[in-house]
Amino acid sequence: MRILIAGNWKMNTSLSEAVNLVKEMLSGLDEVTGVDKVICPPFISLAAIKEIIRGSSVKLGAQNVYFEEKGAYTGEISPLMLSGLCEFVIVGHSERRQYFKENGELVNKKIRAALKAGLKPILCVGEQLAENEAGQTEAVITRQLKSALENIAYNSELVIAYEPVWAIGTGRAATSEQANNIIGLIRNNMAKLYNKESAEQVRILYGGSVTAANATELIQKPEIDGALVGGASLKANDFISIVKQASAITQT
Ligand code: PGA
Repeated sequence: MRILIAGNWKMNTSLSEAVNLVKEMLSGLDEVTGVDKVICPPFISLAAIKEIIRGSSVKLGAQNVYFEEKGAYTGEISPLMLSGLCEFVIVGHSERRQYFKENGELVNKKIRAALKAGLKPILCVGEQLAENEAGQTEAVITRQLKSALENIAYNSELVIAYEPVWAIGTGRAATSEQANNIIGLIRNNMAKLYNKESAEQVRILYGGSVTAANATELIQKPEIDGALVGGASLKANDFISIVKQASAITQT
């Protein structure tokens, strides 16, 4: 499976900072082969960055999308606006679920709309700390997957990211064993929701405090097909290092 490393810049970087950051990392990322490299800057920088990365192997993603195509939805960005501008879109990130009250039904509509517009969704799932401690991880992941993908035909462009909420931005990543186990569970769920082929084929990333120091350990696990990187994707050298580590794993 081709490894995918995505950088989620979240609500960081002004337009000029984003342009500088991508210029800083572009050649380092571009020279790495065998890995899909995606950066997800804020909406306002997408158009400028699209021009800068043109002709390179670096791909562009958005951090969110609304499900309607157009109309009176002040402040929202539609899938049609993104198609042609970027290839990927993060959907259902835990910060959106937590701070913007996105629920399974909304995530489902967004996934559907993104796929319809030809965007490749990176669907995020993950349990909160209390749920983890209460032994509910499996139930939470199963529920989130089911609602996000309900009545959506399997699409090979779909990417899933397992991001335990307690690991995001905390410096406390899941152990590679934990991440590998839950991602295996996600794959089992995909087999139930769709079929064995889809489960084997879908790329499932790990996210939550991935750094240049733990990337190899996580990505080399058999079930883990890449990483969704937050904080470390804002540091050019760290992000390049993570992508290089993924490439080295691909070559072994
Ligand atoms: P982090 O964020 O790498 O800063 O923990 C990951 C994410 O939220 O995608």
